[in-house]
This record gives sequence, structure tokens and C-alpha cells, in this order.
Amino acid sequence: MKLSLSPEQRAARLALAREVAREAGALALGYFERLSTLAVEFKQGGQDVVSIADREVEVLIRARIAEAFPEDGVLGEEDGLVEGKSGVLWVVDPIDGTSPFLNGLSHWCVSIAVAVDGEAEIGVIYAPVSSEFFSAAKGMGAFLNDAPISVAPTRAIEDGLLGFGSNHRIPPADVGRFVTALLEAGGMFYRNGSGALMLAYVACGRLVGYYEQHINSWDCLAGLCLIKEAGGWHNDFLAGEGMLKGNRIAGGAPQMKAGLIALLERVGASTETIA
Ligand code: IPD
Ligand code: CA
Repeated sequence: MKLSLSPEQRAARLALAREVAREAGALALGYFERLSTLAVEFKQGGQDVVSIADREVEVLIRARIAEAFPEDGVLGEEDGLVEGKSGVLWVVDPIDGTSPFLNGLSHWCVSIAVAVDGEAEIGVIYAPVSSEFFSAAKGMGAFLNDAPISVAPTRAIEDGLLGFGSNHRIPPADVGRFVTALLEAGGMFYRNGSGALMLAYVACGRLVGYYEQHINSWDCLAGLCLIKEAGGWHNDFLAGEGMLKGNRIAGGAPQMKAGLIALLERVGASTETIA
């Protein structure tokens, strides 16, 4: 039988996720306001950057979770996996959109998800610069600053902006092919450097959907919970080793799914885990 949080367990963790996201966002914002003093480190290539802000914000989030739910596990972008005993896994990106953050751009956020048995039951995304706080929990709907939100109700892929992620883990030619096919179909891409934030924008109807050939679970699980609770669909991101190794991601408003599948077929990409 599939495991799930009880309503009380979910409510307690949602309350903590919301509280910690605010605290983490405030800490990150403090660093953002004194950006010129931060040393930028390069993880792999020139685009994969990190700073003390990412590390310290993750330390804070981990400490709060350990205080409140010491048996829960945590998977975070900077410090990896610490397994728990409860079957509950917090999936945390202290700053998603590190590149915009370190370049002085406003599109970054804190992303916190709580997953149980292969499902993100809670998703909280906080963008401190715009004071936008997105939150969702299984069966409870999705909210932006406490007002209910929903995905774009009637839009097909060519009627809206498609959030699109690219990174240096995937071949540049694949990116080119997908963007070309999208434009040829009459669509348009949108990229702001934060996958988590773009997924939140899908949940509130600003973007019609989101696609990225490979993304990590800490970048997207909170956003996937938001999209589902806002009436949208998403692929089986956690299939296989998605939680630890990442996967392809696709999701959005119900009416854009057919158009996305048609695009993928056109560029010769698999539609497995999507169709
Ligand atoms: C990245 C961003 C980006 C996405 C990448 C992620 P980071 O995360 O979400 O939009 O395209 O796949 O790695 O490095 O800003 O935490
Ligand atoms: Ca990230």
C-alpha cells in the first residue's frame, strides 16, 4: 500500500516548511543585498556557480528540520542526502536560480518540498525580491500569498509562454532543436534561470507549462506539487532514479499536453513518462 502523511502530519510539516522558507529567504536576501562581497565558486563549468549564501541557507534549513522532525530525511542541493527513519524526505534547494542571484538579477527563490513514497505532498517556493510566497499541500490546493491559484485554464502550447530550462548537462543541439520546433509551432519560450520559480509561474497561470531535458529533484519537486494542486499535470519525474539523479521534467495546464507531445515527437525525443 502506498504510504502517505496523515492530515495532521502534513499540516505540521507544511507549517514548518512555510516558516523555514520565510526565514531562509530573509537570510538569502541579506546576502543578495551585499552581493559584491560574496566570493563566487565554480562547481564544474563556468555556468555552475555557488557561494556561501547557498551553503549557509541550506545549513539553516537543515537545522530547523532536524530540530522539529529529527527522524525525517533531507536531500539538499549543496549537502546531498541524509537519510531518515520516518519515510519522509525533505527535498531542499536553498537558492534556486543561483546564477541570476549571483549576477544581481531578481529571479531566485527558496524551494522546499516534502516527499513520501515517491510523491511530493508539500511544496513551498518563496521569492523574496518580489515578496511572492507560493505554497501547496496534497488535497489542499495551491496558493500565492494566501490567495488560491490555478494553472492557465484554456491555453494550448501556442497560446502562451512555455517555461524552458537549459543547462550544460544536456547537448546544446538538443536545446536548439526543441526551441526551433516550439517556435515553428507558433509557441514561445521563457527562461529566467530558476526552474523552481518558473514552475510556480505555471501553477499560477503566468506560463502555460514547463519543459527541461534534465533537472534535479531539489529544483522541481516543490513546483510539481504546486502545479498538481493548481489543477495541472506533470510527468512521472520520480520514475527510476529521479530523486537522486534527476530526470526530464514536463508539466503544465491540461490543454498544452497534446501540443508538447507533438513537439517532442517532431524533434525525435522520447514521450515516455509523459504520454
Ligand atoms: C538550476 C536552475 C535552472 C535549471 C537548472 C538548475 P540552480 O538550478 O533551476 O533554471 O535550468 O537545471 O540546475 O543551479 O540555480 O540551483
Ligand atoms: Ca537549483
